[in-house]
Amino acid sequence: MTNSNQVNSSGLPTAIPEAPSGLGTMPRGEPRPAGEDVCILHDAQGRRITYVRVSLTDRCNFRCRYCMPTEGIHKLAHREMLSLEELAALIRVLVAELGIEKVRITGGEPLIRRGVIDFITAIAAIPGLRDLSMTTNAYYLAGMAEDLYAAGIHRLNISLDTLQPERFAHITLVDGLAQVLQGIERARQIGFSPIKLNTVITRENLDEAAAIVRFAIARNLQPRFIELMPSHEECATQFVSADELRSHLAREFHLEPGPRSNEVTTPSNETTTGSNETTTGSNEATPRLSDATGAAECHAAARLYRLDGGEHCCGFIAPMTHPFCHLCNRIRVRGDGHMLPCLSEDVYYDLKPYIRPELRDRELITYLREVLAVSKGHTPAARRIQGMWRIGG
Ligand code: 5AD
Ligand code: SF4
Repeated sequence: MTNSNQVNSSGLPTAIPEAPSGLGTMPRGEPRPAGEDVCILHDAQGRRITYVRVSLTDRCNFRCRYCMPTEGIHKLAHREMLSLEELAALIRVLVAELGIEKVRITGGEPLIRRGVIDFITAIAAIPGLRDLSMTTNAYYLAGMAEDLYAAGIHRLNISLDTLQPERFAHITLVDGLAQVLQGIERARQIGFSPIKLNTVITRENLDEAAAIVRFAIARNLQPRFIELMPSHEECATQFVSADELRSHLAREFHLEPGPRSNEVTTPSNETTTGSNETTTGSNEATPRLSDATGAAECHAAARLYRLDGGEHCCGFIAPMTHPFCHLCNRIRVRGDGHMLPCLSEDVYYDLKPYIRPELRDRELITYLREVLAVSKGHTPAARRIQGMWRIGG
């Protein structure tokens, strides 16, 4: 068994397939054939792992205060990063052989990684992938949205903590609000759906929460508020709980509890990967609340509340005060090939030896199944995150 403190050395038998020869060689996406036997990943709590978040880079053009410590960050060395071909090969194994159905591309800021569009094209083509999405700060989105959509990403989560230019510059250390808003507008025009706005709520922007909700629903975007997870000292005085935020919003909206966000139906009956898309033409992004509150499996982090009895809803993600670990179905892969079974657990597993210098997929599969089988997630006392810019939330 390996973890962050040990070097990964597999004593497993070697069956070395041909190394991946590039993004262009991926077959076009097709649904997984019905009844095909795919090994499903489980962790030690018996949770089915069907969702992977892949961070393409630890670099970001922003320096959000709650994310990056003011004293600066230690960047991962270039030579440690997996190439996009290597990451694509890894995702292909996860999807085609281990039952992963949902992939979210994150950063740092994923749009700054050179080659990201070709990478997305390759990922969208992987048979069996049902849901491909990206989290971005939207600074470069206006210029890239069209290519991104054509490549196969149609669902976006966009970080937006304020609508005030000066506050934006204070939070991110970049005078970039206008450019981000342009990115959001462009993404709407092109038809990304859903577009969710992620707002990390703090003492600094609590007074804007209602304005952000109004901004979002006026544009058919889904507002989602995230509790601040402590990554460094400054966070301690800034924390606002989801309950406090809801009381605050209740002064302006009637909030009616609904299901978690994967229990809602979206208005269009599209499938969610690029290659198999059958859009109905509806550009309506705000999910509608369904009556599926009793769904047996619900993995989404956001608890949805209906706004003013209407069709729009607002999400609250409360990892600190209402942990949703029992619903978690995800693993995270950093750009250097480290796999994290849990955001709050300071344990990761190095997949790179199974990918570089060449992909050894059989051993990779065995290794992943072994390490997840003993992963229990964090203990509540250890709920502290490190290096969010490397993991991508
Ligand atoms: N707590 C909560 N959310 C965070 N994010 C970054 N750092 C933190 C933190 N300390 C969010 C970003 C983005 C997502 C990737 O993670 O705002 O929306
Ligand atoms: Fe901000 Fe996201 Fe960049 Fe962190 S990774 S600095 S949260 S934009």
